Amino acid sequence: MARYLILLGPPGVGKGTQARRLASALGIPHVSSGDLFRANVDGATELGRVAKDYLDRGLLVPDDVTIGMIDERLARPDCAGGALLDGFPRTVAQAQALDDLLARRGAAIDLVADLRARPEVLVPRLSGRRTCKASGHIYHEAYNPPARPGVCDVDGSPLIQRDDDRPETVERRIRVYLEQTAPLEALYRARRLLFEVDGEQPVEAVTDSLLREIRRRTAA
Ligand code: AP5
Repeated sequence: MARYLILLGPPGVGKGTQARRLASALGIPHVSSGDLFRANVDGATELGRVAKDYLDRGLLVPDDVTIGMIDERLARPDCAGGALLDGFPRTVAQAQALDDLLARRGAAIDLVADLRARPEVLVPRLSGRRTCKASGHIYHEAYNPPARPGVCDVDGSPLIQRDDDRPETVERRIRVYLEQTAPLEALYRARRLLFEVDGEQPVEAVTDSLLREIRRRTAA
């Protein structure tokens, strides 16, 4: 049976870090709206041209553009058995659209993991984040440093700092989350799909908490 799981939580809480660990443990693909937008920006596609301005300003890309991109991604064969959604949905309209597009496939959301951390934890996590474009691996200068500074452990590529991790953009992204995405917590809680995980624990402990709850709640 297909499994569709959502990772909800503010910028910097660890969605991308955990999604990479969970996807391999659960055997479903990691679908990140942010990664898809960044790949389109790097590839200079029309979608990337539209999205870039919103990403740079820390604002949400319009719903119709985002929903179309995710619909297309979920239609690919690797998502036939489910997907781990990271960064989507982010508005009530996107949540409604996700229900509709999964219903068309005879599926539904199984679970929503709500990763939580205080804003004072999020800001230093984002300012110290470094990523490898080639492997997608995520590091932190202090909390999860690479073996050699500035170089990816996986493939030796140079690490970069995301443009939207500048302090003024980080603050706006957290505000946008609280205004536009946090209302989804109540929506999914009312549907008894949501469980909370403390995102301030060390990375391994967060993974353990997530896997324990997912396995318990999706056991047949
Ligand atoms: P997106 O790429 O989705 O960014 P985000 O939600 O802001 O989340 P982040 O990727 O910044 O953080 P994360 O929670 O994945 O944390 P990470 O694991 O990297 O979106 C970017 C932009 O795209 C948006 O602003 C918007 O413009 C657009 N967009 C995307 N989706 C959209 C949508 N649905 N609708 C409209 N627009 C959309 O961890 C952060 C750092 O902390 C890392 O350095 C990591 O090493 C470290 N870390 C992680 N966990 C721990 C831990 N437990 N302890 C210590 N350090 C940790």
